[in-house]
Amino acid sequence: MSEAPSRRSFLSTVALLGVGATASDALAAAPKPQSKSKPAEVNATEDLMREHGIIRRTLLVYEEIARRLGSPDEKAPVEVLVQATRLMRRFGENYHEKTEETEVFPRLVKAGQQQELVQVLLEQHAAGRKITESILATTSGRDALTKPEPRAAVAMQLTQFSDMYRPHAAREDTVLFPAFRDLFDAKQFKELGERFEEQEHKLLGSHGFENALKEVAQLERALGIFELARFTPSEQ
Ligand SMILES: [Fe+2]
Ligand SMILES: [Fe+2]
Repeated sequence: MSEAPSRRSFLSTVALLGVGATASDALAAAPKPQSKSKPAEVNATEDLMREHGIIRRTLLVYEEIARRLGSPDEKAPVEVLVQATRLMRRFGENYHEKTEETEVFPRLVKAGQQQELVQVLLEQHAAGRKITESILATTSGRDALTKPEPRAAVAMQLTQFSDMYRPHAAREDTVLFPAFRDLFDAKQFKELGERFEEQEHKLLGSHGFENALKEVAQLERALGIFELARFTPSEQ
């Protein structure tokens, strides 16, 4: 009897991965497709973490621009930089960080938890906003980034921002959000997720996340860094 290609390729993947259980055990354990019912809603911390995904991809854009600004022969991609910085402001600062500052941090502080961490995170939000403001001011002129000095200054700011935000988001994902989640029971946590969703629609429109995702992908494409495979090291 012949097997469907998808089942065959799944079985060979299981074999390749060297999974201890038998392939049929793995197939039995796999979630069954539910074509009629809707998938589970994105919960509050998953929501914040996938927003970090958009921010991290914007940081990849920042890092590529900083690299180009650092090599004098490369043209400064000013328009992409302006768009990326505006996305960071609109999505990262005015939406994501605002949610943390109004919904997440105060609840933890009130519960007497993670207070020192919250203090550092707040300082980093403020430091990031200052950098964003400064980059937007530097890139507003017609001849922005044509001279070596502003090029070097903006390259340094982009690197500083990225060097700060990577550990910032990683600490939130691994320490702050789990502590935050522990403050709620299942019902309260579900309600909070719904409120986050409403807030997202109010501040960013009904497809706020999806639109930000499209925008960051378009910025990656403009710089030629969209293809994920380009980040895989070539075989030695
Ligand atoms: Fe934050
Ligand atoms: Fe965050």
